[in-house]
Amino acid sequence: MALWSGRFQEDVSEFTQEFGASLPVDKALYHQDIAGSRAHAHMLAAQGIISKDDAAAIDKGLASIEARIEAGEFPFDINNEDIHMSVESVLTEEIGDAGARLHTGRSRNDQVVTDTRLFAKKRCVDLMHANIELRRVLIEQAQEHFDVILPGYTHMQHAQPVLFSHHLLAYVWMLTRDFERISAAYFAADACPLGAAALAGTTYPLDRFATAESLGFAAVIQNSLDAVSDRDFLLDLLYACSVSCMHLSRLCEELILWSTTEFGFITLSDAFSTGSSIMPQKKNPDFAELIRGKTGRVVGDLVALLVTMKSLPLAYNKDLQEDKEGAIDAAKTLEDCLVCAAGMIASMETHEEAMFEAACKGYLAATDVADYLAKKGMPFRQAHEVVGHLVLLCEQRSCDLSDLSLEDFRAESELFEDDIAGALDIESIVRARTTFGGTGHDAVAEQLDSALVALAADETALDELAASVL
Ligand code: ARG
Repeated sequence: MALWSGRFQEDVSEFTQEFGASLPVDKALYHQDIAGSRAHAHMLAAQGIISKDDAAAIDKGLASIEARIEAGEFPFDINNEDIHMSVESVLTEEIGDAGARLHTGRSRNDQVVTDTRLFAKKRCVDLMHANIELRRVLIEQAQEHFDVILPGYTHMQHAQPVLFSHHLLAYVWMLTRDFERISAAYFAADACPLGAAALAGTTYPLDRFATAESLGFAAVIQNSLDAVSDRDFLLDLLYACSVSCMHLSRLCEELILWSTTEFGFITLSDAFSTGSSIMPQKKNPDFAELIRGKTGRVVGDLVALLVTMKSLPLAYNKDLQEDKEGAIDAAKTLEDCLVCAAGMIASMETHEEAMFEAACKGYLAATDVADYLAKKGMPFRQAHEVVGHLVLLCEQRSCDLSDLSLEDFRAESELFEDDIAGALDIESIVRARTTFGGTGHDAVAEQLDSALVALAADETALDELAASVL
């Protein structure tokens, strides 16, 4: 019998019961649901709305239900359409009237979004942990291969040589911003809707501030209509997950390219590769591809909720029940991707010679040869033209700039002298990029320090947040 059976003369069909149920999804929120109910019952007693004995019975009953859920012994039944009704109906069966008083001054509308906010906060903390681990692994690889040089690309064409550590650190900064976005989602979720009841507040003297505080919320939501109908915090989380997954897809795309025969810059460990059922020689970067592919699904979760929310009138509408599945999925997907990427990066083998060899091809010194002339007084545009001719000459002779003789250089400009060899040395070219944030060894060392400082600061901030989630 439904909790609202008083007004109804006919039951919904088995099909609609199942169609309307959210239990298979919101089961995941049992811990938050029970914590919310315990806090609510405690507050009801403190305010003299229910007796202390009833509150104690509720508390004991809920603790026992939680233990049974965790032991896999709770009688979940789809006739109780969601986690809230499941817990409440078993509680009432077991402790009688006290259980039936738990829902005083509360609606599932404020209950569900309280649970969801608590859950979102917890998942943000989990994601921030996974984010930090991946950053740590990337930083360790950057430290270990600090001065390895590889070609930097624009348009997927060789452009200028860069340090491998610099390249890896670019991803560390993306992830550092992801951390900020996830913590912004945490703060967006960190306000308590409980006490808004169905939509308008209640006639009971609830203490909303007490429940908010005991559940670890930083604030109480100001407007009861907004409290039950706002899902911005989930959109924030979904957006943060989408951007972070997109970053991982870029990283994985590079790992896939680098592990091809054509590049040969890295070898992924066997633990992060698969074989082929027909081609015995194959070793495929399946997991990197899977992370790249999962991005589509996470972005899909974001778009799904955005579209669900569009045009929804105030206040609660059953459409909102669609909010949790995608958010749970996106957080789990991103967490798994972060963990998988960290394992993959930590265990990959780096082929330093192959990277350096590639950096010696494709006239990567051209910009520096033009700078050489410009520094000797030739306007940069003219220097660009001169080096363009030299590159053309190399193309015709199928050689590199470093294979040209001083005479070849001087035929294009009298400004070339013996010291041109310095402008052609790949290692010096990298070292000379001293601009703040550039790829020069000193600039990257400084950058590495900053990345470590940011990592340590985020770890400290995370410890604090982790202490206040349920
Ligand atoms: N299962 C519902 C959800 O996830 C709980 C709230 C139901 N409220 C209602 N008035 N039908 O949104």
